[in-house]
Amino acid sequence: MSEPKKLYIKTYGCQMNVYDSERMAETLGGQGYVETKSPDDADMILLNTCHIREKAAEKVYSELGRFKGLKAEKPDLKIGVAGCVAQAEGEEIMRRQPLVDLVVGPQSYHRLPEMEAKTRNGAKALDTDFPEEDKFEKLKNRPKAKRGPTAFLTVQEGCDKFCAFCVVPYTRGAEVSRPADRIVREAQDLVERGVREITLLGQNVNAYHGAGPNGDMTLAGLIWELNKVDGLERIRFTTSHPNDMADDLIEAHGTCDKLMPYLHLPVQSGSDRILKRMNRSHTAESYLRLIERIRAARPDIVMSGDFIVGFPEETDEDFQATMDLVEQVKYGYAYSFKYSTRPGTPAAERPQVDPAAADERLQRLQALITQHQREIQDDMVGRKVRVLFEKTGRLPGQMVGKSEYLHSVHVSDADVAIGELRAVEITGSGANSLAGILV
Ligand code: 5AD
Ligand code: SF4
Repeated sequence: MSEPKKLYIKTYGCQMNVYDSERMAETLGGQGYVETKSPDDADMILLNTCHIREKAAEKVYSELGRFKGLKAEKPDLKIGVAGCVAQAEGEEIMRRQPLVDLVVGPQSYHRLPEMEAKTRNGAKALDTDFPEEDKFEKLKNRPKAKRGPTAFLTVQEGCDKFCAFCVVPYTRGAEVSRPADRIVREAQDLVERGVREITLLGQNVNAYHGAGPNGDMTLAGLIWELNKVDGLERIRFTTSHPNDMADDLIEAHGTCDKLMPYLHLPVQSGSDRILKRMNRSHTAESYLRLIERIRAARPDIVMSGDFIVGFPEETDEDFQATMDLVEQVKYGYAYSFKYSTRPGTPAAERPQVDPAAADERLQRLQALITQHQREIQDDMVGRKVRVLFEKTGRLPGQMVGKSEYLHSVHVSDADVAIGELRAVEITGSGANSLAGILV
């Protein structure tokens, strides 16, 4: 048998890219590739890129430039660019960086085997179509390799919301939901391979409307189906839009035993004026009312969010409204970003906020979020949680896992294995994690 070829994938950006990279590795596994952790011994290098913020494309070009030496040493080395920068830049990538052999957009990953073969014949391969065929069916996992206790599972992709700052509707395309039975089968397969917790992924996951046995299913309906999968212990989902938080999903947070008490629900801003300019079609007030209803269903739920500061035309007053909203919600986690212009999006053409003012706002917002995050974490001390152990810790004898609230929890000198779900009493709270003892 010939030596397997080696594949090095570097993943940028969101969890969906992590999932996509796994699928690409499995698909190319069928072409005789095994994964390697270093680009130095690779026969193929794939950069799975992100285009959401900052100078994403520039970073990709500088990363590609660093492979020049490798390619000179090893002319058979194939270099590919996947992900949202590939979708946005297309052919331009090969023009600007001739060492690139392959450019593949997120909707064409199932075509990678043919594209790889084409590069082996010395040709360039480019595919940034939005094809009709079912990518996920064609990307079905080949090897039945053992897996760690947690996994991502993409159930929905793309977005029709067109927030004025966001590239996702352009790079990932229109919203598409996968049929429910295929998702359930994929979940069963993951469980057979050792997975205990699944995070359902979608750019607009709560808009899920995949085909079910009796017409389209909601995300809550899908979660209830997954709740029946033996051996699956935990279900999470991300990312949700406030406008798609349906009643059955809110209710499921109170009644579905495998659905974890954690919800990522980005609001982006607390100013109604800015929300309108962002094309968000909800107000600060409607968002706060929604959270009240979610907390009524599941009082201990930990909320998480995303914020953009320095969106075009944001005033001090608008920013203060964001701070007020954060005070009211009190997030257990929140991600805040300085607005970054995305060419081709509506907000790119508007008057920009002074960067120094935006920096200052970002710092103030992050300080407040960190303070809340810490308070919520400290409140866990003395409580009992359930921890799914995922890995060994930095110190000898230490094991680390996640509570139902997604806090990192470590225990020392405990007889516990990776993949076990155990009751833990929280005894301490540090900067980024909790300490506990088995009970
Ligand atoms: N600038 C800054 N942040 C952005 N996000 C999306 N687009 C931009 C942009 N142009 C943030 C939003 C979104 C998260 C994934 O990234 O907060 O929820
Ligand atoms: Fe982007 Fe999310 Fe808005 Fe869709 S809902 S356009 S993915 S920020």
